[in-house]
Amino acid sequence: MPFRAHSTVITMSAHKFTPWFSQYYTIKNSRNWRSWPIIRHLRGIGFRRIAPFGKGRQGPISVIRYYWADFLESYREDFRGRALEIGDTDTIRFYGGSKLTHAEAMDLSAHNVAVQVVADLTRADQVAGDQYDCFLLQFSTNVLYDIKSALYHAVRLLKPGGVLLTNFWTTDFYFHNGLDMGTGGPIYMHHWFTPIQVADMLHDLALAPTEYELRTYGNLLTKIAFLLNVPAREFVLQELDYVDPFQPLLVCVRVVKPINWRAPKPSYLEPLWLPTGKPQQLHPITGHFGNAYLSNH
Ligand SMILES: C[S@@+](CC[C@H](N)C(=O)[O-])C[C@H]1O[C@@H](n2cnc3c(N)ncnc32)[C@H](O)[C@@H]1O
Repeated sequence: MPFRAHSTVITMSAHKFTPWFSQYYTIKNSRNWRSWPIIRHLRGIGFRRIAPFGKGRQGPISVIRYYWADFLESYREDFRGRALEIGDTDTIRFYGGSKLTHAEAMDLSAHNVAVQVVADLTRADQVAGDQYDCFLLQFSTNVLYDIKSALYHAVRLLKPGGVLLTNFWTTDFYFHNGLDMGTGGPIYMHHWFTPIQVADMLHDLALAPTEYELRTYGNLLTKIAFLLNVPAREFVLQELDYVDPFQPLLVCVRVVKPINWRAPKPSYLEPLWLPTGKPQQLHPITGHFGNAYLSNH
């Protein structure tokens, strides 16, 4: 699952597993016994099921985070100068290291000390533009109802020549009453995306194809694995890295802000209806799956 338990809220999976961005190298460089033929075929027998493996327990890097780490690896150089991330600063610090002069997080509330910019990205008019060299907007686009305004502000905040790294995913576990991550209000899954839809939004932001890269990852097997909560370490690289354009799982985007970027500000949109049920709580063991499968299956 793309969400991960927040480090200040959740500690359970954190001590057993190194951060997902570090686990990427283990998957890439060594073969796990769980991906041996007999083991993975036995595991495959369990694919006929109605609840995710481990009742949604989180831990080793998911296939979707493996893909995102693969994309970020190609663009390590973009993490430099003044960098911004949504929610916390762990990922920009990992990739940027000493190349960063500032590492700041933006979120709806100051739920941890890294959040220096308290703002709604979809309404970020009060945040000055042209100030960041890098903006990492990861695993958040599907909860941003007014996604076009969010992307507009994401590009606006960058210095000319600055880089936006962001992702969009095509399917997921769906928290039907929203999810409270303790970050400033429940979030709701408004979108799952297609690559063509993402490209269209980039063009709407007055970006030409030379000003962005859009790369898709995933195939039928890894899409199913993601929904079944089967982590990346159970697959061999040929399975993980095979890209089937008919079965995209993750759409990764890198935008370089043009020097004379001028895009019209989109009209702001508000949801006309939101669920009235009690939102799911982020869970210490199952992350964004909450208790959806813990008691019933
Ligand atoms: C699912 S988390 C993803 C980021 C997390 N660091 C990760 O890597 O998984 C989504 C984050 O976006 C924040 N968020 C949701 N809506 C937002 C908005 N309109 N403006 C700014 N942040 C928002 C949430 O509070 C939460 O911290």
